[in-house]
Amino acid sequence: MADKVRVAVLISGRGSNMLALAEHRRRDHDRSYEIVLVASNVPEARGLVLARRLGIKTWSLSHKGLDRRAFDEQLDAALRSNEVELIALAGYMRLLSPEFVEGWEGRILNIHPSLLPLHKGLDTHRRAIVAGDEFGGCSVHVVTADLDSGPVVAQERVRILPRDDADSLAERVLEVEHRLYPKALEDYARALRAAEEEAQDE
Ligand code: GRF
Repeated sequence: MADKVRVAVLISGRGSNMLALAEHRRRDHDRSYEIVLVASNVPEARGLVLARRLGIKTWSLSHKGLDRRAFDEQLDAALRSNEVELIALAGYMRLLSPEFVEGWEGRILNIHPSLLPLHKGLDTHRRAIVAGDEFGGCSVHVVTADLDSGPVVAQERVRILPRDDADSLAERVLEVEHRLYPKALEDYARALRAAEEEAQDE
């Protein structure tokens, strides 16, 4: 296969999923992606510190005082100048402008801590418990203009136990996220490269 797909991970906080993506290793084959940039709208995000420790380039700009479109234009410029091909949102707590999403169509993945299409938006674990759901879980999906509504590419269930509160459920789901997201990104990046190579051969 040609070069690895150049991925940027967007974060706003602790960055545990970013870490899982960065530390993902494959036993038999080369990995299909490499993380070339970790970007954040929160300059003090803990995940940026973790990324730097791993030797990954970081970029940050506070969104405060900037309108969404202006911020996203700067983000877009940073991604393009680093020749990013695919974006992985990992706890990126900011809506993307429609212009940004359009410019990266089919090239943004997100991990969401619910069994989409259930419980879009925030506070997912509490809502799953209150709804009496038998399972919580997480989903990796392609980002489209509508929040948490793009095609799901990977999903895993986690049983909700009688003693669960939102925190205990979140903790178990997070462990699954750390396993699911690297695998989903690996597969997506591989398919993206294969589609590009096929298009070139035509
Ligand atoms: C995760 O639960 C993820 O599903 C959600 O935000 C949280 C981010 O956690 N989108 P982390 O920053 O990756 O530790």
